Amino acid sequence: MVNGAKRVLVFDSGVGGLSVLDAIVASGHALELDYAADNDWLPYGLKSDEQLRARVPALLSRLVDQWAPEAVVVACNTASTIALEPVRAALNVPVVGVVPPVKPAAALTRTGVIGLLATPATVQRAYTSDLITQFAADKRVIRFGSSALVDAAERKLRGEPANQSAITEAIEGLFGAPGGAETDVVALACTHFPLLSAELAAASPRPCVWLDSGEAIARRLAHVLIAEQGTARLRRAGFTNAESARPSFKAFEARGFDVFASISAAPAFEATPLDDFRSA
Ligand code: DGL
Repeated sequence: MVNGAKRVLVFDSGVGGLSVLDAIVASGHALELDYAADNDWLPYGLKSDEQLRARVPALLSRLVDQWAPEAVVVACNTASTIALEPVRAALNVPVVGVVPPVKPAAALTRTGVIGLLATPATVQRAYTSDLITQFAADKRVIRFGSSALVDAAERKLRGEPANQSAITEAIEGLFGAPGGAETDVVALACTHFPLLSAELAAASPRPCVWLDSGEAIARRLAHVLIAEQGTARLRRAGFTNAESARPSFKAFEARGFDVFASISAAPAFEATPLDDFRSA
């Protein structure tokens, strides 16, 4: 263990949390990072609020028991906007969630038109509407919900070509909406989407700022943990469907993860290292 390094669990439904993990690593703090993906339930954006409010706290509390992190990052907007309260109630460690970056987007826009790209669940949540009322009431906010983009990001990290039609559909949904041609800032309110920011920017009809919450979460985490400056160390990555996650293990290895684990079905959620997959 790095001296003084605090252990953190980063959680998402799939690979999206890697965009947040990358920002945490780039923030330069001495942390030990574990990652868990509930990919057996992917995509969260098509699950009901009730399902997520039951599943996410149960899964995270079992993982906290087993991996003993000092903080948990819910690196998923879909889970954060609905299940943060029950997650906090279930865990005895600090929980940092993701907030759709509406406030910084409102501060940045010059044209007054903001795009908000998220999962179908997040775009319609009261939480998101409240953020818009609070911070962007005087702006035009164009929301577009896409689960196909989540799948495109998953594919990209498996090394397959990202699904171009998902990207085209999202761009048309934003820029083709009434007033949308003036959009100059797009808030990426799903952690999978920063993994596609190059593809989205390339398909965009005009230059835009593609804004995500990664840096803000990294700052918040360092503050909550009073983390020391240093280098992050990546440790375990666990999956609720390890078999289907295998093709994306390379993307995890490339970041420095060297132990992969299979997380068993509810309610046990038992994390077992995969002996047949350790990097050299
Ligand atoms: N990465 C997640 C988010 O931030 C969820 C994607 C999904 O599972 O639908 O919303």
